[in-house]
Amino acid sequence: MASIKMGVFGAWRGNSYIDLMLREPEIDLFAICDKNIDNLCDDGKLAEIPKFRDFDEFLSYGKENGMNAVFLANYFHQHAPFAIKAMNAGLDVFSECTAASTLKECVELVETVEKTGRKYMLCENYPFSNEMLKMEEIAREGALGSLLYAEGEYNHSGGNEELRRLTPGRYHWRAWLPRTYYLTHSLGPIMYITKTEVRYVSARASHSDLLYELREWRHNYDGAAHMLCEMSGGMTARFTGCTAMASDYGRYRVCGDISGVEAGGYIPGGKVRQFWHEHTKPDGQNENVLLIDPAFDDDKKAKNAGHGGGDYRVVQNIKDYLICGKEPFFDVYRAVNMSATAILGWRSCLNHGENFKVPDFRNKEEREAVRDDDLTPFPDENGEGATLPAALPFEE
Ligand SMILES: NC(=O)c1ccc[n+]([C@@H]2O[C@H](COP(=O)([O-])OP(=O)(O)OC[C@H]3O[C@@H](n4cnc5c(N)ncnc54)[C@H](O)[C@@H]3O)[C@@H](O)[C@H]2O)c1
Repeated sequence: MASIKMGVFGAWRGNSYIDLMLREPEIDLFAICDKNIDNLCDDGKLAEIPKFRDFDEFLSYGKENGMNAVFLANYFHQHAPFAIKAMNAGLDVFSECTAASTLKECVELVETVEKTGRKYMLCENYPFSNEMLKMEEIAREGALGSLLYAEGEYNHSGGNEELRRLTPGRYHWRAWLPRTYYLTHSLGPIMYITKTEVRYVSARASHSDLLYELREWRHNYDGAAHMLCEMSGGMTARFTGCTAMASDYGRYRVCGDISGVEAGGYIPGGKVRQFWHEHTKPDGQNENVLLIDPAFDDDKKAKNAGHGGGDYRVVQNIKDYLICGKEPFFDVYRAVNMSATAILGWRSCLNHGENFKVPDFRNKEEREAVRDDDLTPFPDENGEGATLPAALPFEE
């Protein structure tokens, strides 16, 4: 019998995970909730699954009938309040990125996990593609030496038609998302490969004329933001949020003093490049540059899922956590470390690169300083409540 009774909240992106969960005998897809459910759910294969438009009804049905976990794929900036509600109702939570959209929410999320003892995992998927797993394996084996520098870049642009499709509604989050906020696909892999977290962030954003033309309905018309960070363990890292830079989709690089690894960008698709100095090259190895084809036991299943195997492995991580008790890498503390870096990175952009310390949310004293900090660029559904700009000031 399936031991995981999972409800899915948000059936747009959520549909990719619905498909994957249906393939797992240990997961019982228990209920689905989306206010636009009629447009999103395939009645054939999902005919038997209870469907809801309202989260509270979905939750109370779940509570009464034994649902024990919820997967959040609702709006990007509204994950924390729903995660908190679900944990307070006794459910474990698996959340799409980002974990929290204000520093106040970071504190509340951490404290709800601690108070309720519920399981919480951020479902960031990019660290679990074949290339990132290979880079992590090489770093874990110590082959890189002392870690000196890392970079993560995630570029995802689109034409007007695609941007319109992805931004349904005047106050949809994608129209108000500052360029630092969507950073888990660039920072997540770096944190996972190097087992570090962000300690300080200083960032800059760049104006885009092309996006400025869309400013009437896309208020976040910067084209890119770059964050330069001091990481735990002394390494420095540079990464983007989601950018509109005319460049390859993604690129990742981690350099130690002995060896360096990279993937994406000009490295052939699906491969990892490893580099050594002549004087640090392993004995007996002829070349100081290798192109490696990562391969893992679950390759075939992973490749049939989305994002280079990442989505499949997120589902496996959910199972490992709920069934075997294996703690996920992206626990609540690392999840809010990423959210807080995005939030403070944006403040840094607005202040010409001012350096911000990212609170360590494990430390209760550091939480106090930001407990009431609810600055946000996101308006509510009536267009009210945004307290930060979504783009740099720009004078024509
Ligand atoms: N990890 C990845 O590769 C990846 C890819 C795409 C999207 N995402 C993430 O998934 C999340 C959802 O993004 P999306 O692309 O599906 O677009 P979206 O945010 O527009 O879709 C959210 C869905 O949730 C529903 N919803 C939101 N609030 C609701 C509420 N209060 N009650 C009922 N239904 C509600 C909406 O109707 C919509 O169908 C975002 O956090 C996004 O960052 C992640």
